[in-house]
Amino acid sequence: MPTAAVQKLYEACNENFSSVVAPEPSSRSIQTLRSVLDSIKPVDVGLTEELFENIYGYGFLEPNLQKGIFCLPASAVIPFHDHPRMTVFSKLLFGSMNIKAYDWVYPMDTEPNTSQLRLAKLKIDNIFTAPCNTSILHPTSGGNIHQFRAVTSCAVLDVLVPPYCDTAGRSCTYYCEYPYSSLPDDGNMITGVDSDGGFAWLEEIEKPDDFIVEGAEYKGPLIEA
Ligand SMILES: [Fe+2]
Repeated sequence: MPTAAVQKLYEACNENFSSVVAPEPSSRSIQTLRSVLDSIKPVDVGLTEELFENIYGYGFLEPNLQKGIFCLPASAVIPFHDHPRMTVFSKLLFGSMNIKAYDWVYPMDTEPNTSQLRLAKLKIDNIFTAPCNTSILHPTSGGNIHQFRAVTSCAVLDVLVPPYCDTAGRSCTYYCEYPYSSLPDDGNMITGVDSDGGFAWLEEIEKPDDFIVEGAEYKGPLIEA
């Protein structure tokens, strides 16, 4: 009997990411997981259209929150949030969604701006429609701060390497965006930044009250540990 796709995912994570200590996993490990995720379909994790009604979260596959599936009704938004020191794989399983993602222009310890606002460079602003390949963001590139906006009801499988951990400096922070041109230049900007060059200010905010994730039972194939 062929190995279930979700079992391959579990094993690929265990074999490649169980002890990531470098700033980022190796490119070989990233490619291994990417190829497993690229082939995963909704049925492989027990997702059906009926499950999409009014649920935002769906069965994290394991208790350390390394993997999870988010189900979004049409127009739902996962607000801008970051993934400090993390590599994140996002595989859209079903539907269409807009991913908008930024990277910081300055690393945290070289940020010239002393306000709550940080300058960010737009990396992605595209509509993705399943089936499509896995999107990958990195600690300082690839759009580490992102927002998901559901164009249709949709579901996305996320793998976080390593997972969020407050005590290890990997907390999730939420942001709102302001157009670059809406705020005065304080004279510290890098050469070449202009108002329509894909830059924005991001301001740290509390988790929005209307952003609610409800857990739901995982109903896909069993995984053997
Ligand atoms: Fe995310």
